[in-house]
Amino acid sequence: MSNKLLNRQANHYEVLIIGGGAAGLSLALNLPAHMTVAVITKGRETEGSTYYAQGGISAVLREDDSFKSHIEDTLNAGGGLCDEKTAKFTVENAPDAISWLSDLGVPFTTDKHKDGKKTWHLTREGGHSHRRVIHAADATGKALETTLVNHARLSDNIELLEHHIAVDLITGKKLGLDHNRCIGAYVLDKDNMQVETFQARYVVLASGGASKVYLYTSNPDGSTGDGIAMAWRAGCRVANMEFMQFHPTCLYHPKAKSFLLTEALRGEGGHLLLPDGSRFMHKFDKRSELAPRDIVARAIDHEMKRLGVDCLYLDISHKSAAFIRSHFPTIYARCRKFGIDLTREPVPVVPAAHYTCGGVMTNLHGQTDIENLYAIGETAFTGLHGANRMASNSLLECLVFARAAAQHITQNANTDHKWNTIKAWDESRVTNSDEEVVVSHNWDELRRFMWDYVGIVRTDKRLQRARRRVDLLLLEIEEYYGNFRVNADLLELRNLAVVADLIIRSAQQRKESRGLHYTLDYLQTNEKAENTILTPE
Ligand code: FAD
Ligand code: SIN
Repeated sequence: MSNKLLNRQANHYEVLIIGGGAAGLSLALNLPAHMTVAVITKGRETEGSTYYAQGGISAVLREDDSFKSHIEDTLNAGGGLCDEKTAKFTVENAPDAISWLSDLGVPFTTDKHKDGKKTWHLTREGGHSHRRVIHAADATGKALETTLVNHARLSDNIELLEHHIAVDLITGKKLGLDHNRCIGAYVLDKDNMQVETFQARYVVLASGGASKVYLYTSNPDGSTGDGIAMAWRAGCRVANMEFMQFHPTCLYHPKAKSFLLTEALRGEGGHLLLPDGSRFMHKFDKRSELAPRDIVARAIDHEMKRLGVDCLYLDISHKSAAFIRSHFPTIYARCRKFGIDLTREPVPVVPAAHYTCGGVMTNLHGQTDIENLYAIGETAFTGLHGANRMASNSLLECLVFARAAAQHITQNANTDHKWNTIKAWDESRVTNSDEEVVVSHNWDELRRFMWDYVGIVRTDKRLQRARRRVDLLLLEIEEYYGNFRVNADLLELRNLAVVADLIIRSAQQRKESRGLHYTLDYLQTNEKAENTILTPE
């Protein structure tokens, strides 16, 4: 019987990775072949934000660029709140991470020179003072995710388990043991609707962000903050949750479900326009369309509210049709499907929730507050992004911290591990729900009040309104969770409510405007920059 089958039967692994995006898979592939690894994903194995990433990955890859400049740009975009040590660590490890991906076969776009030599094509995005974003046309995430999945499938020690949704972490404290190590997770197998017990020496949260907490988002449906909520319930500190990033340009079309229009469109010369065809970004920032994302999203929001319109426009039609079609083939095709020709006309755009800058607090190895529990990727708070993430620094953070965590696990792996006896998931006191409407209603209500009251522009009053609503929802959902058999919708709603609570609490604590947190009641930016750190009781 193969190693994989043996592990599958017992659900015992050396490393359990919750999430199979850029972070989770990079970690799995950087562990030694003798370690047994399970990567669980709650949907299809490729489904997550990584697959949809467009613009690319930032790294210093040219001689006219420098680490110093990449670090400075990151700190500037981050509104004075980035951890400089983390920024340095990430930026300096970027070129190696890109070489690793290139060796795996990720098909990055190249430029062919007259002498026949090829170099990587680097694009520009907001906040970057150099061209330093490596990409695979406008579908970088698809190229990255499929390459990583293919390698993981071929690895004898890695088991990919799709349709498995982690419910909660299992810790020594929860079991009444004399230590508080993380030793596994309860996982719902969505195919047979059974909650199984997974044990592992190391557990890694790589479960992405929480943008689905808002009504309009660029993210896929699974971005429900599960990793953050599970870590919080298990006793980890969570930081800077008020800094939810809104991407300035998602396609505005009733059937587009917030399809993203990459910032690289602006990096390659695209203009933002008012309905009368005039440009406006220069009135808000001297970098115009290439100002950091918080500034551009706020400017669009301001103009939309001032003019009372549903959308603004992004125009790149002044560039040649051949250039547009070759650099942005996915976006061109998608817009054509909705009857819009990117090469000839402006595209209607609106901002949408895009990225969770805060998350589970970790150190430079990805270690959390709980022994043997790591958090990496969008789930984690490493201090890199501060009050506003710079474009294309996210995939980079996934790669760099996945490799760092893999190294730490490998170097510290202890071999005299004993498996625990863990009580199976108890369903004796729950029944099937007779009112699924409670779940669907609360999903809708939560995402709407978060959009209306905790969005791009905040006030004390709006946050208080959101506070009252989330308190009620938390009670109602916990009661429902205690009485009925779990399913994916309920688990995600439970996590969304926790994340919404963390966002509102953090926003209420910050009495200033900084980066992505903008409030009409405190327009000033305080001299001292401080993280908002929440500690579970
Ligand atoms: P994800 O890729 O989101 O993966 C999360 C994984 O966790 C999935 O496998 C999911 O199934 C699993 N999961 C979640 N909860 C559970 C659970 N309870 N149980 C089991 N599994 C679970 N960043 C850039 O740097 N450059 C870009 O060009 C860029 N473009 C973007 C474009 C779009 C449209 C979007 C949405 C984001 C973009 N970003 C970009 C941000 C970036 O893609 C994400 O931050 C990054 O991919 C996150 O990777 P991750 O591995 O942390 O999580
Ligand atoms: C984009 O392509 O605009 C998204 C880049 C990012 O979120 O970093």
